Amino acid sequence: MSLLIQNGTIITPDQRYVADILIQGESIYRIAPVIDTSDVGDVEIIDAKGKYVFPGFIDPHVHIYLPFMGTYAKDTYDSGSRAALVGGTTTLIEMCCPAREDDPWDAYQLWKSKAAGLSACDYSFHMGVTRFDETTEPLLRRIVADGVTSFKVFLAYKGAFGVSDEELYRTCRLAKELGVVVTAHCENADLVAQLQASLVAAGKVGPEFHEPSRPVAVEAEGVHHFCTFLKMTGAAGYIVHTSCRDAVEAALKFQVQGVDVKLETVIPYLVLDKTYAERPNFEGAKYVMSPPIRDVAHQAYLWNALRSGVISTVATDHAPFDFVGQKEMGKPPESDFTKIPNGIPSVEHRPTLLYTHGVATGRIDVHRFVELLSTSAAKQFGMFPRKGSIQPGCDADLVIWDPDYRGTISAATHTMDTDYDGFEGFEIIGRPALVTCRGKVSVRDGQFTGSLGHGRQVARSRKGGDVV
Ligand code: URP
Ligand code: ZN
Ligand code: ZN
Repeated sequence: MSLLIQNGTIITPDQRYVADILIQGESIYRIAPVIDTSDVGDVEIIDAKGKYVFPGFIDPHVHIYLPFMGTYAKDTYDSGSRAALVGGTTTLIEMCCPAREDDPWDAYQLWKSKAAGLSACDYSFHMGVTRFDETTEPLLRRIVADGVTSFKVFLAYKGAFGVSDEELYRTCRLAKELGVVVTAHCENADLVAQLQASLVAAGKVGPEFHEPSRPVAVEAEGVHHFCTFLKMTGAAGYIVHTSCRDAVEAALKFQVQGVDVKLETVIPYLVLDKTYAERPNFEGAKYVMSPPIRDVAHQAYLWNALRSGVISTVATDHAPFDFVGQKEMGKPPESDFTKIPNGIPSVEHRPTLLYTHGVATGRIDVHRFVELLSTSAAKQFGMFPRKGSIQPGCDADLVIWDPDYRGTISAATHTMDTDYDGFEGFEIIGRPALVTCRGKVSVRDGQFTGSLGHGRQVARSRKGGDVV
């Protein structure tokens, strides 16, 4: 069956116009002021009058399968992809995070196997490089040839995912040769370890001490460190989950020297602040992520950086852990904040929170909203124009957005598989009325109507555009 979306206001980063969109199969077939479907056969007509039509959103930083800090992230591709679609995210890029001793190719196959045949939305991976020795390089070349055109390195998490400087250098050098992007978690791991040890030794063990164990200077040093390696190798970089002014400014110093480094922030930093992690009775543990949520003063700076283009994407860093039994692993007096699994679930809420706190407040306009949630990530990660745009021939990934919707976020109604919601009680403005993922109607009025297994891995192109 074909789909005709009538009279919607189509929004891209540089266009706004009212038109009809005809979807045939998995692609956009035609866009015109009025489309007559009398010769098209079986067609469902969707009235989008008064609604926006956005390209399907892309979340470039998601964790679904994640063995981490002695436990596993809670979602599977069943709950995670449904939650993504309910929020309007039609493509996600998951971090493939092997343990240091794992074979990268085997790990990549494992991560793929979690998504294939189960995901309802499209997906890709950033390939985590957690070790770089003589066996690594040919395997990474094979993974890149499979359409995974970005690596992920952790400067943090000493003894787990973190890489040495030698490994970082070799990863960046290979990335430059292959034309792939190096994404990086930037925090100085040794400083974190020392600060954690001092705080715990002083009896400062609650979740409120997570932020002081990883202050802004620790993140800024990580950014400076990573950018130095980009400068030395000429590789293209992308700094994930930038939380504060100091980190942005550290990157800007390299951008003006010609270093190709882009910045991502994530939705928790834009709407939460460190007082959430200071909530009593261990409730603060719900808000422990790394880098930590910061002093509220950083929020205005991040919003300005989004508006001005200094930060190019808003992701989630969706890393879902239950409060009971998982976050509680770091509960004093038996334990301490260093054992709280890091992460805040949010794959479902990014678009509506960015709309509510960004568009509805006038901090950004709808064009920037689309760019931050979709088009920038599509361009940065080799999916444009197939994803992130609305043109004939593109994948029919569309979000029909109802700007008049009003609601409230709650764990009682969310789709994510966690027992709490970090945005519990937040009022929201706007949500997807309907979502298509490659032509499949996957959400209607906030309810998932898609198919598990519909999602496909997206083969991404390298920097410069060659399809791998
Ligand atoms: O706290 C976080 N960010 N958890 C997920 C792992 C990571 O660092 O991205
Ligand atoms: Zn990270
Ligand atoms: Zn992450």
